[in-house]
Amino acid sequence: MNKKITSFHKKTIDERINILNELNLFDNNFNITTTKNTFNHLIENYITTYEVGMGIAPNFLIDNKIYHIPMATEEPSVIAGASNAAKIIGLNGGFKTNSIIREMIGQIIFKNVSNQKEFKEYLENNYTQFKEIGLKAHPEIHKLGGGIINFKTEIKEENFVCLYVFVNTLDAMGANTINTILEAIASRVESNYGAEVLMSILSNLAVNSIVETSVKIDPKTLKNSDVIARDIALASKYASIDPFRATTHNKGVMNGITALMLATGNDTRAIEAGAHAYASISGSYKPLATWYEQDGFLIGTIKIPLALGTVGGSMGILPKVKLTHKILNIKDAKELMKIAAALGLAQNFAALYALTTDGINKGHMRLQARNVALEAGANKDNIDDCINYMIKNNSITVNTAKAYLNSIKG
Ligand code: MEV
Repeated sequence: MNKKITSFHKKTIDERINILNELNLFDNNFNITTTKNTFNHLIENYITTYEVGMGIAPNFLIDNKIYHIPMATEEPSVIAGASNAAKIIGLNGGFKTNSIIREMIGQIIFKNVSNQKEFKEYLENNYTQFKEIGLKAHPEIHKLGGGIINFKTEIKEENFVCLYVFVNTLDAMGANTINTILEAIASRVESNYGAEVLMSILSNLAVNSIVETSVKIDPKTLKNSDVIARDIALASKYASIDPFRATTHNKGVMNGITALMLATGNDTRAIEAGAHAYASISGSYKPLATWYEQDGFLIGTIKIPLALGTVGGSMGILPKVKLTHKILNIKDAKELMKIAAALGLAQNFAALYALTTDGINKGHMRLQARNVALEAGANKDNIDDCINYMIKNNSITVNTAKAYLNSIKG
């Protein structure tokens, strides 16, 4: 069982690492730079390494277990927002995963099908054979207990027919596994039926890998407690009627999820494409996280596809990915799905809470002032007073910070 951490943001970088080490959630051997040679093999035309800072949003209480979530992001205030939300939600019993399903979807798309009905029947009559082909194409995944689950065939417009293949990729995101299976089946259909294959590829609209998580917050634990629950619920309602706002609302959700996906070596684009497509699955673009009032409480729910993995891809190669997996202390991909959904909901809560109370600039201003104070030479003993001085004087500049630091020199 992971332990709670206190005042993490007030600690120095080394102190933070020590805390994680003491909790056995760190491994100095993984806190190293990936070699140029590794990157040169991983991507093409490699020249240098682009860096993003990684921090921890501590104390997420999810299904009665505490997680300290690593987040890689270039945006100030994202980790602070998540941490603050986790603190409040922790006081309110934490996050509860209501449901979770996990299955990947592949598509074999056939073109120029003259008799779609007949071809559909052919495909449907050969599912058992396709299953055997899939097994031969990727025996390892089947041996481990995963592999093809079932099939579905759909006639599409413009003489297309699509064969959907549903696959259990175990703890991998499974793009390569699925594509290998799909290509083997596609080439058999091509030779046996004479069908023309347009393409075989997994779908990022992962409607069979969905997590639903909720929280129940007592408004008394929030500021402006008399109106806050209503305003957050209204913010959610507004997002559901205006796609301009829903997009920004969901961007806030993804501020958290993408940062975690990047830190854990997942394909951020796959997750984002799936999330936004799912947001518009009803025909209009909707919020992924929603809030409403019930019996005096504020209830928040997120329902989101998260076709992520905890093994495969570059995960076994990159030391920092091994480090984030160590920090998370998770056993499988489903556990990471739960954490990602909770983080998305927390991030959305943090944004709506700030937007409906102080506005977004106040928190940002403090974080900006922190960077300015550091640049001016503030240390851990005087940084908070230095920030307060700049905010009070409405002047967040290096000169003001230096003036303050000079004024307190003994
Ligand atoms: C900024 O990165 C994210 C927000 O705009 C999200 C939102 O408006 O809900 C604050």
